[in-house]
Amino acid sequence: MFNLILFGPPGSGKGTQSDYIVEKYGLIHLSTGNLLREEIAQETPLGIEAKNFMDNGQLVPDEVVIGMVDSYFDKHEDAKGFLFDGFPRTVAQAEALDKLLDLKKTQIAAVLALDVSEEELIKRLLNRGKTSGRSDDTNEEVIRKRFSVYTNETKPVAEHYKKADKFLSIKGEGTVDEIFESICKEIDKRI
Ligand code: AP5
Ligand code: MG
Repeated sequence: MFNLILFGPPGSGKGTQSDYIVEKYGLIHLSTGNLLREEIAQETPLGIEAKNFMDNGQLVPDEVVIGMVDSYFDKHEDAKGFLFDGFPRTVAQAEALDKLLDLKKTQIAAVLALDVSEEELIKRLLNRGKTSGRSDDTNEEVIRKRFSVYTNETKPVAEHYKKADKFLSIKGEGTVDEIFESICKEIDKRI
């Protein structure tokens, strides 16, 4: 298996680039944000629990997210590999992921982190908010909350993978094609 993490702050282009990466390399896209939004749309108990956290720009509790990832793995036993988008977002999630992958006798090949300035991120998110229907995009206060959660809870995840020598920074500004090209270069060295 070949497993990658696409890392970066809200609006850095994880979802956009994921679509291209899974298409080119035949990986399964695992976006915890998308899975949670599906649960909300279907009004499942998990979705109802998650909605308040997401609307306020806070993280959904680790055990909820880890359980969701675990059952997603069960549904994709034949996967060639996974592309993780928006997960892991806390050190506890990263440790849980290491254990889950260990059970599958596999591991993370690399963490590709999209580097984008905060000014550009806010511009992108407010712009998307006009059409996405995502409640966490329309309000600048909620966007700022998502950034502070990213700094406090998610950035430490980078250290977890730096220690394992798996962390790589990629310039996340420029055209979507240019960024995809930089990502492919790094993947091709490792796959
Ligand atoms: P999640 O859905 O993961 O959102 P996020 O990380 O906040 O990031 P976004 O999806 O907003 O941005 P993105 O990096 O995917 O960028 P995109 O490609 O869309 O999480 C949402 C919420 O769910 C969290 O706040 C939390 O509550 C909960 N959650 C999710 N996972 C969780 C977890 N593991 N643990 C706990 N809670 C969790 O691009 C953004 C915009 O920019 C788009 O409009 C796009 O068209 C545009 N764009 C992309 N690339 C470019 C470019 N190169 N130039 C110009 N514009 C661009
Ligand atoms: Mg996304």
